Amino acid sequence: MYLVTGCAGFIGFHMCKLLLEKKYKVVGIDNLNSYYSENYKKHRVSKLKNDKNFIFYKYDLNQKKNIQKLFLSYKFYNVIHFAAQPGVMYSYKNPKSYLRNNVDATDLLVDQIKKNRIKHFIFSSSSSVYGDHKRYPINENFKFKPKNYYAKTKITCEKLIKKKLKNTTTSVKIIRPFTVYGPYGRPDMLILKLLSLIKRNKAVKIYDFGNQKRDFTFVDDVVHIIYLLSKKIDSNLNVLNICASRPIKINDVILIVQNILNQKIKINYERKRKGEMKITYGSNKKLIKYINFKKFTNIKDGLKETIKWFQNFKNKSLFIKIR
Ligand SMILES: NC(=O)c1ccc[n+]([C@@H]2O[C@H](COP(=O)([O-])OP(=O)(O)OC[C@H]3O[C@@H](n4cnc5c(N)ncnc54)[C@H](O)[C@@H]3O)[C@@H](O)[C@H]2O)c1
Repeated sequence: MYLVTGCAGFIGFHMCKLLLEKKYKVVGIDNLNSYYSENYKKHRVSKLKNDKNFIFYKYDLNQKKNIQKLFLSYKFYNVIHFAAQPGVMYSYKNPKSYLRNNVDATDLLVDQIKKNRIKHFIFSSSSSVYGDHKRYPINENFKFKPKNYYAKTKITCEKLIKKKLKNTTTSVKIIRPFTVYGPYGRPDMLILKLLSLIKRNKAVKIYDFGNQKRDFTFVDDVVHIIYLLSKKIDSNLNVLNICASRPIKINDVILIVQNILNQKIKINYERKRKGEMKITYGSNKKLIKYINFKKFTNIKDGLKETIKWFQNFKNKSLFIKIR
């Protein structure tokens, strides 16, 4: 049985969907916070609830008693921890949310993992822990150079996990995903923002004049990789990048979207924003060697699938409200 935290979020939702397709029992928890549309999150949960093997709890990870009770009620073999306050720019507006939902929440969860001797724990850190470097691709041994508070809180989580779960029987994996995109995406991230604005015939703001590069990684690949990782119990703590290792300029992403839609996109170019990385480009060599996953979806196919989902999605009003 799996416990997936942040199951109403973008990646957590896809993770649960895949596990349910593989016929596992899944308990999902999420506090359905309002960082972006609560109704959009509820919609994702309602899709998961169509499967009788899915059980949902609207719990906040900081509600210690509820979380304790949950671990007593179920025997989890795998815990996959996605719940977090994501986003780089919002970390300047509301740093407390990052401390609470990333550091405090992970700390409490890890105590339960330890206490209940969970066999396998996977924590979703982020590529943002690396910051900008002179050499690319970035491998797992590169130094932390966090450029924003979000990245700092992820580093704190990684450190506390290593410290608290050292010398325990729990097999631990810390994963660092790079710019994940796909259907049911996050409304505060580029692709869904782009599609929503095009739909409303509005201009799209593109920072750093579109010259920044991102190692876009398709969500189906990401959750498939995490699934394979969840099957591999290992006494060593493993840190793994999850990335396609094919960085692409934002301007080139826009060209691909234009071509698929056969429509010119109105763009307002702006300077680079503070805290944002110039390039994200990870090495996936360690990952490929570890689980033998090679077939990363190319960006054109991934975007085609995302756009097809967007065009067929009836409730677009669920994510039009963007902070
Ligand atoms: N999307 C990406 O490109 C990306 C890249 C690298 C790392 N990550 C990491 O992957 C994880 C999932 O990201 P996502 O894009 O799906 O984000 P998301 O915001 O869509 O999902 C996170 C979910 O966690 C829930 N949550 C937050 N705080 C909680 C708490 N205290 N208790 C219970 N639930 C809580 C939110 O309501 C949300 O549904 C996060 O840890 C994020 O930092 C994401």
